[in-house]
Amino acid sequence: MATDIIILAAGKGTRMKSALPKVAHKLAGKSLLGHVLDTAKPIVDANIIVVVGHGAEEVRQAVVAPRVHWVEQTEQLGTGHAVQQALPHIRSDSKVIILYGDVPLIREETINAMLAAVASETLALLTVRLEDPTGYGRIERDMDGKVQAIVEQKDARDEQLLISEVNTGVMALSARALHRWLPRLENNNAQGEYYLTDLIALAVSDGFSIATLHPSEPEETEGVNSREQLSRLERYYQRLQAQSLMTSGVTLADPSRFDCRGEISAGSDSFIDINCVFEGSVTLGSNVSIGPNCWIKDAVIGEHVEIMANTVIEGPVRIGPKCSVGPFARLRPGTELGPGAKIGNFVETKKASVGPGSKINHLSYVGDATLGEDVNIGAGTITCNYDGANKHRTEIGDAVFVGSNTALVAPISLGRNATVAAGSTLTKNVPEGALALTRSPQRMVSDWPRPVKKAGD
Ligand code: UD1
Ligand code: CA
Repeated sequence: MATDIIILAAGKGTRMKSALPKVAHKLAGKSLLGHVLDTAKPIVDANIIVVVGHGAEEVRQAVVAPRVHWVEQTEQLGTGHAVQQALPHIRSDSKVIILYGDVPLIREETINAMLAAVASETLALLTVRLEDPTGYGRIERDMDGKVQAIVEQKDARDEQLLISEVNTGVMALSARALHRWLPRLENNNAQGEYYLTDLIALAVSDGFSIATLHPSEPEETEGVNSREQLSRLERYYQRLQAQSLMTSGVTLADPSRFDCRGEISAGSDSFIDINCVFEGSVTLGSNVSIGPNCWIKDAVIGEHVEIMANTVIEGPVRIGPKCSVGPFARLRPGTELGPGAKIGNFVETKKASVGPGSKINHLSYVGDATLGEDVNIGAGTITCNYDGANKHRTEIGDAVFVGSNTALVAPISLGRNATVAAGSTLTKNVPEGALALTRSPQRMVSDWPRPVKKAGD
């Protein structure tokens, strides 16, 4: 049977105190709605409908979702009314599940279990028991434990308020049932809203049974209403990611000081020190060591690589096995390091291919450059790649030695085994094996009288 997934995302999120619509706020670098969409996407034959209202355009822009039907609810008249807006996109023979754009961590297994529980005369409801049920719709059961209705907090009598089992909001049912009951919702309640939750009593009176399922952990169905709640879910999510990395054989110096805003995978016996942030897609080989305070985005890092403290990697970057990078290095997009290359402190690279065993150990800028094997770049070397209008390339052959404080004015190429004397500014190509130097001769003034301080100054 086909699946239609309705995601409600029309609310404003007043308590966020933000110009940004709530579901566009980010958890682990991805919008709240983006999380729900990514979880829904793999569900087979799913048709996804998102109901937007407040900041509809910004919400659409916050996610990459090519297959989604967007529906606009111009006035927020309640969750039942929101679902009504999606009805034109619901296929008559499908199973429908209702999710929320501000409940980001719902799991695919839970969605599938809910859909599996739907039958021709059974509706599935996801509920949870809370120590403090304040604010939630309460699940009312009869003497036999059968669900009869959901009573909203604002409509509940005192004894109903004592019920600790609450509605998470997630329900699944057949499209036929939804079509039958949605038009029958009324708004004669404390909030003057069309409650989706009133569907339960209608279903029961039509002889349906309500199957209740529960999330694997309460965080799965926790909504985000405030920045404080957002930060708690963020930490919970980071903890899950940290745990799965540890399970895969990585040591984390402190799993509570680990942040991944994207995807990370790692071979075994790698080590990640505290306060590292990973973004985009990061792949670590085995036996990689990452020092504290590194920011690493979109990188493929080979085995036995050591990344030292305070290194910034903004990929796409590829680092071959046994390289050493940092401390305080900055690798920018298009950097590729061959096996055993070394990038030291205060070195910036961009669109640079550094051959096996080559070293740029201190205080240099290497951009738009290709370096062969076993090149040694001295401290303070700059590839002058930009003439104010265009970028130019620097080509450096195998085993070239560049002395300290050298400016290589591109376009330029240094042949194999060439040597550049320290302090040179080169504008011409250097042939293989040659020494190049552009150094003003040293003068000597003997017995130079150094200036002395005047008295009183
Ligand atoms: C709802 C449930 C309540 C449940 C709780 C779980 C109803 C009537 N009540 O209450 O039983 O315990 O969720 O969090 O359904 N929305 C729209 N359009 C609207 C109204 C709401 O898109 O017109 C969206 C909101 O953006 C939000 C979600 O639906 O994401 C829930 O709406 P909200 O008004 O917050 O419902 P609650 O009062 O929390
Ligand atoms: Ca409400």
